[in-house]
Amino acid sequence: MPLPKPTALVTGATSGIGLEFARQLAAGGHDLVIVARDTARLERVAAELTDRYAAHVETLPADLAVRAELQRVADRLADPDRPVDVLVNNAGFALKGRFLQNDIADEERHLDVLVRAVLVLSHAGAQAMTARGRGRIVNVSSVAGFIASGTYSAAKAWVTTFTEGLASELAGTGVTATALCPGFTHTEFHQRAGIRMDSTPGFMWLDARRLVADALADVEKGRVLSVPGAQYKAIVGLLRVVPRSLVRARAR
Ligand SMILES: NC(=O)c1ccc[n+]([C@@H]2O[C@H](COP(=O)([O-])OP(=O)(O)OC[C@H]3O[C@@H](n4cnc5c(N)ncnc54)[C@H](OP(=O)(O)O)[C@@H]3O)[C@@H](O)[C@H]2O)c1
Repeated sequence: MPLPKPTALVTGATSGIGLEFARQLAAGGHDLVIVARDTARLERVAAELTDRYAAHVETLPADLAVRAELQRVADRLADPDRPVDVLVNNAGFALKGRFLQNDIADEERHLDVLVRAVLVLSHAGAQAMTARGRGRIVNVSSVAGFIASGTYSAAKAWVTTFTEGLASELAGTGVTATALCPGFTHTEFHQRAGIRMDSTPGFMWLDARRLVADALADVEKGRVLSVPGAQYKAIVGLLRVVPRSLVRARAR
């Protein structure tokens, strides 16, 4: 009897960074559970992963801002009969406007996807994984979490700090947690938010394929913080030593 393949659950697996995680985990021998809102797109990704990598793929349509739908994903992670070995909390989006201009309902939805979903799914995933004594959790944060620029920065600062704390709590359990902090990456992220990026210099852009390969290598090494790209390693190193008043002034 062949050994069962490990399973990875990836949120936001239909586009950008999440799609790359799904592809590279499938290429590395994982079966997949893929989560996003667009059902037709989930089915297309599932067909691609099955055709190209012979992965068994479950589609789990869910809007992570809706509590009952988020709970369905948490229940899937908690199912002892269908263990999930790798959890990638990746789904996310940005709001274009400034905090005071935005509708507070949109801000709450933003917080629910970027923060509450990561909290709930990390809890369900880590409980199930520690009971089995193995597992990997990857929370996709951002370099934006090291600066102070709007609610996106604040949410990503939470994801990074939360994941560092989770990693400490998990030490010795066989389960690891990694906060992945990308900089600007070519995906649908900015276009979806209607944010123009024409003035961002080319050297600041990361390629999702390379980023995810570097991130998975860091996860295998058990790294708690993964900052892909030499330019962003340097920026984050600098942001950690300069006075916060300078960081705030630059963000303004
Ligand atoms: N691109 C960058 O420059 C950059 C930099 C740093 C960090 N990040 C982070 O990387 C992560 C992935 O972003 P990306 O750049 O790959 O963006 P993307 O190409 O726009 O993909 C976003 C994914 O999230 C899903 N999603 C969005 N809202 C959702 C919701 N309410 N419920 C469930 N799924 C939802 C989308 O699918 P549906 O629309 O079908 O739901 C899609 O699969 C995010 O956490 C983002 O903050 C991105």
